Amino acid sequence: MSISRLVASYNELSKLDLRVLRVIEVLHRDHEYVPVRRIANYMGLEEELVVKSISKMNKLKLLVRRGLDNVRLTFPAYDILAIHTMAKRGVINAISPTPLGVGKESDVYAADSPGGVKYALKFHRLGRVSFRNVRKYRVWIGERRHITWLYEAKISAHMEYLALVKAYRAGIPVPRPKAVTRHLIAMEFINGVELYRFRLSNPRGVFEQVVSTIEGLMRINMVHGDLNEYNILIDPNNEEIRIIDWPQWMYLNVKGSRVILLRDLRNITRYFNNNYNLNIDFDELVSKLSPLMPKVEYPPSKAYGKLIKRITSMIK
Ligand SMILES: Nc1ncnc2c1ncn2[C@@H]1O[C@H](COP(=O)(O)OP(=O)(O)OP(=O)(O)O)[C@@H](O)[C@H]1O
Ligand SMILES: [Mg+2]
Repeated sequence: MSISRLVASYNELSKLDLRVLRVIEVLHRDHEYVPVRRIANYMGLEEELVVKSISKMNKLKLLVRRGLDNVRLTFPAYDILAIHTMAKRGVINAISPTPLGVGKESDVYAADSPGGVKYALKFHRLGRVSFRNVRKYRVWIGERRHITWLYEAKISAHMEYLALVKAYRAGIPVPRPKAVTRHLIAMEFINGVELYRFRLSNPRGVFEQVVSTIEGLMRINMVHGDLNEYNILIDPNNEEIRIIDWPQWMYLNVKGSRVILLRDLRNITRYFNNNYNLNIDFDELVSKLSPLMPKVEYPPSKAYGKLIKRITSMIK
């Protein structure tokens, strides 16, 4: 569904409709398809009123029915709930109709705040949290959750938000995180161009910025995990960088992270060598960074157990 259609649907919803959506969201904890009677009971309303609201939202493609008496939310409905929360918190009051980026994993839009500040809104579409282990953890995070796509998109957004908070606090060049709800992040809008689309005048300087960013991340025990020319934005005025796209970040001191860090370094080195003939020696770069490598590595279950607990408590 296009964002204009989505916003149009949102504008058609009454307070009651929005409440019905929220109640369905809550009841999804117990049901994949929520019985209409339960919604009415939960809200203390006549079933007839709820049925009317549901037919309206079904026509708007915000709900899917199973039989006559059971419903579930669609992604657009979830988008609306997230937009509504952002609007109510005063983060945004308008969304630009043209996307900044649309992919299979996320849709990114520019939005305005009531105070005139511009934000980027990133809607997560898939879970991309990279620890292979998440599936293992599903045993205790997810079994009660019936709508896994929704739950995974939510985890993904919260993981990315947490990364932005940690990195931003440490002075790493990332968009300033503003707010998160469900599968949606609001962050500083960056006036930048992806590295792959921009011809640099000072490639060595930019490469050095990237390396010192990686060093900064290593100092706070983080690895980006998908660092490449698509996830580095360049300010065309001064060629300063911002790193975006964090859902797959990892702790550095966990088994398996070293390989991911080397992959990030290799991607970057290859890009600059191929496009700007910088002649960077990969092994030299790795040995330069090796003092920052952690001395002890923990098994993922130990390292991520806490993190996942934190994330799941954020999204209860
Ligand atoms: N804070 C921001 N400010 C401005 N533009 C942004 C911002 N964040 C993301 N974008 C734009 O949206 C695009 C996609 O963002 P991002 O890389 O975070 O998502 P993705 O998961 O790679 O999505 P996709 O599935 O489309 O690859 C970026 O390439 C960039 O053009
Ligand atoms: Mg990306």
